[in-house]
Amino acid sequence: MGSWTCITSSALLIFHFLAFNEATAAENNLPFISKIYKCVNDKCIISGFQNETKEINEINESVDVCRLTCGQHGSLWPRPTIMTTIKNPVVKFGLENIVFNSSSVADEFGKQYMAEASEVLMSSLRTICKPRCVPNDNNLTVFITTTAPFTNIKWSTNESYELNISTDSDQITVKITARTVYGARNGLETLRQLITAYGRPKFNGKTLVMAGDVQIVDEPVYAHRGFMLDTSRNYFPLSAIKRTIDAMGHSKLNVFHWHATDSHSFPLDLPSAPQMARYGAYSPEKTYSYKEIKDLLRYALVRGVRIIMEIDSPAHAGYGWQWGKDAGLGNMVICLGNRPWEDYCLQPPCGQLNPLNNHTYTWLGKIYKDLVSVFPKGEAFHMGGDEVAVRCWNTTDEIVEWMQSNNRSLSESAYLDLWSEFHNRALTVYDDKVGDSNSDIIVWSSGLTDPEIIEKHLDKKRYTVEVWQGDRVSVDLANLGYKVIVAVEDIYYLDHGLRPPTTYHSWKVIYNNKLPMANNSNLILGAETCMFSEFADDFSLDIKVWPRAAALAERLWTDPPTNALAAEYRLLQHRERLISLGIKPDRITPEWCNDREGECIISY
Ligand SMILES: *[C@@H]1O[C@H](CO)[C@@H](O)[C@H](O)[C@H]1NC(C)=O
Ligand SMILES: *[C@@H]1O[C@H](CO)[C@@H](O)[C@H](O)[C@H]1NC(C)=O
Ligand SMILES: *[C@@H]1O[C@H](CO)[C@@H](O)[C@H](O)[C@H]1NC(C)=O
Ligand SMILES: *[C@@H]1O[C@H](CO)[C@@H](O)[C@H](O)[C@H]1NC(C)=O
Ligand SMILES: *[C@@H]1O[C@H](CO)[C@@H](O)[C@H](O)[C@H]1NC(C)=O
Ligand SMILES: *[C@@H]1O[C@H](CO)[C@@H](O)[C@H](O)[C@H]1NC(C)=O
Ligand SMILES: *[C@@H]1O[C@H](CO)[C@@H](O)[C@H](O)[C@H]1NC(C)=O
Ligand SMILES: *[C@@H]1O[C@H](CO)[C@@H](O)[C@H](O)[C@H]1NC(C)=O
Ligand SMILES: *[C@@H]1O[C@H](CO)[C@@H](O)[C@H](O)[C@H]1NC(C)=O
Ligand SMILES: *[C@@H]1O[C@H](CO)[C@@H](O)[C@H](O)[C@H]1NC(C)=O
Repeated sequence: MGSWTCITSSALLIFHFLAFNEATAAENNLPFISKIYKCVNDKCIISGFQNETKEINEINESVDVCRLTCGQHGSLWPRPTIMTTIKNPVVKFGLENIVFNSSSVADEFGKQYMAEASEVLMSSLRTICKPRCVPNDNNLTVFITTTAPFTNIKWSTNESYELNISTDSDQITVKITARTVYGARNGLETLRQLITAYGRPKFNGKTLVMAGDVQIVDEPVYAHRGFMLDTSRNYFPLSAIKRTIDAMGHSKLNVFHWHATDSHSFPLDLPSAPQMARYGAYSPEKTYSYKEIKDLLRYALVRGVRIIMEIDSPAHAGYGWQWGKDAGLGNMVICLGNRPWEDYCLQPPCGQLNPLNNHTYTWLGKIYKDLVSVFPKGEAFHMGGDEVAVRCWNTTDEIVEWMQSNNRSLSESAYLDLWSEFHNRALTVYDDKVGDSNSDIIVWSSGLTDPEIIEKHLDKKRYTVEVWQGDRVSVDLANLGYKVIVAVEDIYYLDHGLRPPTTYHSWKVIYNNKLPMANNSNLILGAETCMFSEFADDFSLDIKVWPRAAALAERLWTDPPTNALAAEYRLLQHRERLISLGIKPDRITPEWCNDREGECIISY
């Protein structure tokens, strides 16, 4: 019985197979039905269907093209602040016919900078019409004018720009006028967002198109628009850092806060303190050479991004420092790897610098010296300064004995004194390496930066506080006269939601959060999303960071009165551009919704 059934079904199967083959031959000739997009009431919607021709696809089949000029701000991200006019129609142009004219850039350093920044734009255009860009006779000339001499990016840098695009038959003229090269670079980034490509690469390649009639005047609201990456808990190859910086530059984020070291590992390979990486890196491959650090600074700068280095201290320091005792320098780090770790710190491995060992400062000085000599003069420096576990110091004989023999108590406040003495000595060493006392020093908020006591410990002229608690602390510190960077953990920490009891926050929550207002709002410099890397490495970085970091970019650049729902379709387009830069961002809507603006309004 069983074998009979088996023979019958095989015969049926063969019969079906033949019939199916005949049917598919006819069905294969059926064209795909493609969607036609049209801008109606500032929304790109599907306005019709047409049989797709195999050879080309029409310009109206591209939602990307539709969004270039649809709505007040097209697909610009972040949207400009002062004036935006983007008119229809779009114009085609050829990749080979683009000319940059920087003859009106203020100085030679500026011209060199703009040449490199223009090349970033060109390579981005090459990727969007990959593998073949359809040639077109229309010429595109970009005139760049700046007035201020070249300097590095600071909080006071004027990042504004004016961008005009006009088209006269087959000549497209772009004029970018800015005070600084960073403003002009922002203009190039906006230009990039006014360009897309459509077409089917399989057949004729892709055609570049751009908005041909545009006037934009733009300037950011906040000066510090950051993203923080922790390269100590897990190592990230340079390529991961570079593509992150590509995406930052394209989103007009301007600070890469490099949380380079922690108790887990010390990946910076520094010529004056080679022991640190030898003893502290996870492997010889998992290091950043001095030359790589130096090159990365320029790489970032050309993308409008300054790097602020953090060497966390006196807590969150460990591997890299452990060789001191054998070398006859005493303990520079204490509590390293103490067990059970819960008794000495907040996460394993424990480790804190020994504030009483003079060699600690000598070796900090060697680290600082190397950094100071590659970073721009006066660049801000992050000293960490969070989460000192008093219990570690208070259970270390060397420290307790010193406290007692120096007539200090073992109270919380006596330890706060020791902690601030550490910072102020480290600062003296830092200033000594720089040669002046003008560098901005950043520390995380902590017991020491409590608004009730901070003035006793940290000079507001020198210290900026990065606040991870709620808004109250930011406002109180700013009202006291401290500069503040907002990094509220329950919104901006991108590892939240991956460990209990924390919660995941979508891009919308990040977008909707307005920075607190203080009496002197100029002191609230901006904010950062933070990627602590317990749960991230090269393979999982992008999906955690993007597009959430970009959501903060618009909040900080534009600070719009509207919320995420009004921004969603521009962000969808921006996400596509991030993909073209090699990012693998998280998906934020089904494709069906992507094609039907206004039909998927969901407020989470
Ligand atoms: C596609 O082509 C078929 C056959 O030529 C035609 O019957 C059909 O109406 C067309 N559909 C559209 C949406 O144009
Ligand atoms: C789309 O564009 C093609 C070619 O430009 C045109 O033939 C077609 O009518 C357009 N479709 C719609 C619905 O506008
Ligand atoms: C650049 O533009 C200026 C006018 O703004 C013109 O005089 C100069 O010839 C142009 N340079 C090049 C290389 O085309
Ligand atoms: C476009 O550029 C090409 C090459 O530079 C030049 O020969 C041509 O005259 C230009 N066309 C227009 C319309 O300016
Ligand atoms: C930046 O420069 C532009 C152009 O010179 C100027 O209009 C604007 O007010 C400046 N912005 C600030 C914050 O100084
Ligand atoms: C841009 O166009 C506006 C309006 O035509 C004009 O007032 C402005 O001066 C132009 N700016 C630049 C940089 O060309
Ligand atoms: C450590 O440095 C301090 C301050 O410079 C100095 O007073 C002290 O004598 C030094 N201690 C040792 C053991 O060298
Ligand atoms: C030790 O500290 C106490 C209280 O802080 C103070 O009264 C006393 O004079 C100090 N003694 C010495 C020897 O410094
Ligand atoms: C330090 O330890 C002593 C006892 O060893 C204790 O009395 C004191 O309260 C501790 N200090 C702090 C700040 O916990
Ligand atoms: C501004 O300062 C006043 C007086 O110090 C205080 O009452 C008020 O709360 C402050 N406002 C803000 C927004 O912090």
